[in-house]
Amino acid sequence: MTPPSVRVFEDSAEASHWVAASVLEWIDSKPRPGGPVLGLATGSTPLGVYREWCRLHQQQGRDWSRARCFNLDEYWPLDPGHRKSFRTFMREQLFAPAGFDLARCAIPSGGVATESVDRHCAEYEDAIQAAGGLDAQLLGLGPNGHIGFNEPGSDPASRTRKVALAAATRERAAEAFAPEQVPLQGLTMGIGTILSARRIWILAFGAEKAAAVDTALRGPIEAECPASFLRTHSQVEWVLDRAAATTVRG
Ligand code: F6R
Repeated sequence: MTPPSVRVFEDSAEASHWVAASVLEWIDSKPRPGGPVLGLATGSTPLGVYREWCRLHQQQGRDWSRARCFNLDEYWPLDPGHRKSFRTFMREQLFAPAGFDLARCAIPSGGVATESVDRHCAEYEDAIQAAGGLDAQLLGLGPNGHIGFNEPGSDPASRTRKVALAAATRERAAEAFAPEQVPLQGLTMGIGTILSARRIWILAFGAEKAAAVDTALRGPIEAECPASFLRTHSQVEWVLDRAAATTVRG
């Protein structure tokens, strides 16, 4: 197994700038007739990357209209139009200001009925396959080691499915929702789905991520730390700021 590629930047702004350019360079180096296929994340971590992609569209005319996007996850159940849904987040932070075609941007739906969840998740996987698979996947890292909503205990072969959110994840979400309204579950691409991407960039910024970074990079590769499974993929870039990299050498 090749050792993971880890890049440490002075701060998250520098790191985000590098990731924004690195993903573009990768997708532009292998243009696909149907357009690039991106796997995207929500949360605070990718915001700097999204700001840069918006800037490139607005100031340099970067055309995102042919990109196909698949987001990692969504709260369930939750009205997709809810102001705190990941769908709303993506529209506001990236899709609208960077000129993506919304018809080509997929996010698991928090609005599907219980009896339709399994079918919805299977169709999500099928749509990724039909698009030709993920060319580039962006990930944030949970302080508990989760990627997407693949919480500790997740199977490395897992695919898109409904999951229970860990208590730590619900606590973090309580900053966005009223505490009693935090969804208990989510729909998420699986670890197997994420590992099927051709290239992966995982970003972690801030001291609250340092322990999870250390465990993921140096601990055992096991379900207790879902991000540790990224070490089984040969094309993953770990992109850290100094605060998240306190225990990382090099
Ligand atoms: C978001 C997601 C989560 C976050 C992670 C880090 O789509 O899948 O795994 O990436 O919880 O969240 P932030 O970036 O807010 O620290």
